[in-house]
Amino acid sequence: MRHLLRTRDLTRDEAIHILDIALDMAAVQNREVKKLPTLRGKTVVNLFFEDSTRTRISFEAAAKRLSADVINFSARGSSISKGESLKDTAQTLQALGADGVVIRHPVSGAPQVLAVSGWITAGVINAGDGTHEHPTQGLLDAFTIRQRVHGAGARGRGLDGVRVIIVGDILHSRVARSNVWLLTTLGAHVHLVAPPTLLPVDTSGWPVTTGFDLDGALAGHPDVVMMLRIQEERMHGSFFPSSREYTRTWGLDGPRFRALQPDTIVMHPGPMNRGLEIAPIAADSPQSTVREQVANGVSVRMSALYVLLSGERETATVSGDGATEHHAIQQRSAAQ
Ligand code: ASP
Ligand code: CP
Repeated sequence: MRHLLRTRDLTRDEAIHILDIALDMAAVQNREVKKLPTLRGKTVVNLFFEDSTRTRISFEAAAKRLSADVINFSARGSSISKGESLKDTAQTLQALGADGVVIRHPVSGAPQVLAVSGWITAGVINAGDGTHEHPTQGLLDAFTIRQRVHGAGARGRGLDGVRVIIVGDILHSRVARSNVWLLTTLGAHVHLVAPPTLLPVDTSGWPVTTGFDLDGALAGHPDVVMMLRIQEERMHGSFFPSSREYTRTWGLDGPRFRALQPDTIVMHPGPMNRGLEIAPIAADSPQSTVREQVANGVSVRMSALYVLLSGERETATVSGDGATEHHAIQQRSAAQ
């Protein structure tokens, strides 16, 4: 695998392989010395044209824990404000010797442009492009669900039969899209719930069911309820009558949360609009995985960087020989 641009392209085996390596990475993070020498001498550039807290920080932590050199670039304060193009910016990265580029961009498809342009030789990881995809968020969500559902027996497994409902601003959500493709590839059933104005007009090609009725969906006792942020920055116009009305009809408020089965997982990618799409009682409960998702994000991003940038990738990943990579990682962990 040379780039990670979308989960739509991942096979089940590739996805499980990344999740299994993330398990090894998680084990490294529980040690006193959290670093592996795997990417020593490699340079990872974090190229953020849109704001981020979790994704940017966790990619930085992930790259550093693999001993890579990290260069953080954010559009704000850079020569982008002087009109520099993506191409010229990319060529600057090439001159800096970037081996991996992690890019977040407001335009859907920008990471793909970078990957196929020939401007750079680095592996490209999409850290969120417009309303298109956010593949490492999908992977960290899948990892989190797999851990909660299968616990110690998670390695090697998918999410067969797990019932997930994704609720809210599907229209503007790259998180929803990455999860739709990935979770269904892993065997989960995904049901989308949103106001009619916040569902894409045509979801007929998506492997999901859709509806407008949150209470009806919750009455089916899903295993996972994933709440999405209302993305006001992407809304030009009004999509629902008022915040109060939205919360009353589509929010995970106190009464809806209290009616969930005790083992139903509550997820949110963050940042949360507390009190709008999710009540604090739900966000802060033991059923919530919000903080776990952030912690798992570091392991999953270490795994993605490892798969794309480590020397083994040509032999191990291309041949699908996950055991070789695991062995290599475990040897490295043991040697630390
Ligand atoms: N942080 C996620 C994203 O960048 C979700 C969100 O912003 O609502 O897509
Ligand atoms: N979940 C997520 O991508 O968060 P940030 O936008 O803070 O990176």
